[in-house]
Amino acid sequence: MLDPIVRMNQLVDELIRHNRLYHAEDRAEISDHEYDALYRELQALESAHPAEVRSDSPTQRVGFVPVAQLRPFVHQVPMLSLANGYHKSAPDWGGPWEDIIEFERGKSERPGGIRRVLGDAAPEVIAYVVEPKLDGLAMELVYEDGGFVSGGTRGDGSVGEDVSHNLLTIANLPRRLVGAPRGRITVRGEVLFDLAGFERMNNQREARGERRFENPRNSAAGTMRQLDPNQARGRPLRFFAHSAGLHPEPPPSQWLALTQFRDWGFEVSPLCARCLGLDEVIATVRAIEAARADLPYEIDGAVLKVDDTALQEALGFVTRSPRWAMAFKYQPAQVRTELAGVLFSVGRTGQVTPVAQLHPVRVGGVTVRNASLHNEHQMQRVLGLRHGDTVVIQRAGDVIPEVVAAVDGPHRLAQPLFVYPERCPGCGHDLVRTLADEERPEMVQIRCPNSFGCPAQVEGALRHFSSRLAMDIEGLGEKLVSQLVAAGLARRPSALYALGAVRPALVELERLGETSAQKLLDAIDASKDRPLDRCLLALGVPMVGESTAKELARHFRSIDAILQADVVALDEVPNVALTTASAIHGFFADPGNRDEVLALQAAGVRFVPPAAVASGGLSGRTFVLTGTLPNLGRDTMKALLERAGAKIAGSVSKKTDYVVAGAEAGSKLDKARELGVPVLDEAATLALLEGA
Ligand code: IVH
Repeated sequence: MLDPIVRMNQLVDELIRHNRLYHAEDRAEISDHEYDALYRELQALESAHPAEVRSDSPTQRVGFVPVAQLRPFVHQVPMLSLANGYHKSAPDWGGPWEDIIEFERGKSERPGGIRRVLGDAAPEVIAYVVEPKLDGLAMELVYEDGGFVSGGTRGDGSVGEDVSHNLLTIANLPRRLVGAPRGRITVRGEVLFDLAGFERMNNQREARGERRFENPRNSAAGTMRQLDPNQARGRPLRFFAHSAGLHPEPPPSQWLALTQFRDWGFEVSPLCARCLGLDEVIATVRAIEAARADLPYEIDGAVLKVDDTALQEALGFVTRSPRWAMAFKYQPAQVRTELAGVLFSVGRTGQVTPVAQLHPVRVGGVTVRNASLHNEHQMQRVLGLRHGDTVVIQRAGDVIPEVVAAVDGPHRLAQPLFVYPERCPGCGHDLVRTLADEERPEMVQIRCPNSFGCPAQVEGALRHFSSRLAMDIEGLGEKLVSQLVAAGLARRPSALYALGAVRPALVELERLGETSAQKLLDAIDASKDRPLDRCLLALGVPMVGESTAKELARHFRSIDAILQADVVALDEVPNVALTTASAIHGFFADPGNRDEVLALQAAGVRFVPPAAVASGGLSGRTFVLTGTLPNLGRDTMKALLERAGAKIAGSVSKKTDYVVAGAEAGSKLDKARELGVPVLDEAATLALLEGA
């Protein structure tokens, strides 16, 4: 008979494979029934041999279950960023590679430069590893004895967000490292969209009547931050490893670290190369740039790293970046295409902006169909766009693709210029121009004043209202919003809460039906309990983003107080500038907006005030830390507590609220016991933080 432990291992490997096929690749090989049988066989063996249960066993994790919120992910070694250098264009006298040369040699008037720092310790020829700078989402993965434990985003470098549930949907992310040493290992890299898959996914979305994603990087970030891993499932994401965090036996060079990542089962970009000296470095930087347009993923530069770990240590860090590495940014990708027309789009605030409609073209690996023209000044004065133009499109990283120039041609000037319409393309109302600043013609604002009567604005406002960071109304997507507006069922957000009364009309909407209508009504109902800050965001108050909304909620604690506040009171809110204060005041002074707030309140939206201690849930509490914590460094724990508003004191007194004690805690722990101060271990403190 097969040894039970061998069988257990087989089962774990097999189940992991089936999980991946099912969840990440959407091509199951066995039925649910067969899967369950294998799973139960494994469970039975595991309960007979509990000491042999593998940490990566599918029984040990709750499968693809949504999480209630993203939990903090603490980096035991801070995740730093890289200093940037740029490919210089012709007029820069230093030449295109100046920043690379300076990285090694340093400039006489400035500190830095590897050779200047190392002095005599610098080898004659410095070895580097040159890698593509992957334009994805930075991620850290934690493995324990070779098994995947968790993974999280970079966040502020010390604490990010735990996105393990989504990482587990990525097909090429190893669940178990082959031949890795025992102990804890952290590996860093990027999560990226496969570009061909991204295009395919977008085409499918379009066919389903959903919005196309414009930008692979932002979509990857959005996908990883979803609470429900079924959203990430089947999306063509990949993980590439590029640097080591914790390692029980740190490799002596970056090159060996990359080799080891490959051996363990990670995907590492094949463009990475070890280079001796600057000539080879520059040749590789050029080779990577030449390969850029054909790569299956996006890059925005090359990363140069000193290969030798001992030299890296000698070089150390300046503030948040290592001195031994730099990012060399390529010039943004540009391409020509024909301009099919200009669309004037009406935003939720009524602002009308021109968008270039393009003959679809690939730029930096992504197909671009629209590009920003910013405003009237840009379209007419700077670019002078004419019908029939050929234009140059530029796409750089996160930025929306933009038209940077029109190409001159022989009969071009005979063609008419593009001009703004007189009337709103959404509702036909006359547009209004305002010149905010005489000196700055580019600041002309062209708006449709017909707020609640303009379907384009109403749609924009409703979409914004129901979006994830605002009221988060599940199931109320773009398509449905358009249908509601077209059917005259909702003209303003407050009308959503009255949809129950027009249920038959709701059910009749295309593709909705009874069950979905009920789900929608439930989701709308649930949104009545959103916290004040999200409600403020949902209202679309100008200049109020996530963090300002939080500050306002914390400061005023109720929507009524905000409605009553004058500009001076608003200006007193921490981190709110006078211009923002007056924009907020202007918004709430508008009778239409005030009425809408009252209507929302009447409909049962509670604008839930932040909890009493919520300004950092531990504000006013004093903590003392002592001893060695099992996982977190003392500084990290301190930072987490302070971030939640707690004060950290050096000694225990009657005023101490909690003592956080780790191994070998000494007199402070005794004192805490003597005074009856509650003592928490690391886990209890983290639980407290989470509750806060
Ligand atoms: S090494 C100490 N290598 O670029 C620096 N980073 O601004 C460790 N990135 O957040 C980073 N490709 O996420 C490194 N081949 C590569 C990279 C890379 C992309 C990202 C990284 C970091 C950012 C640096």
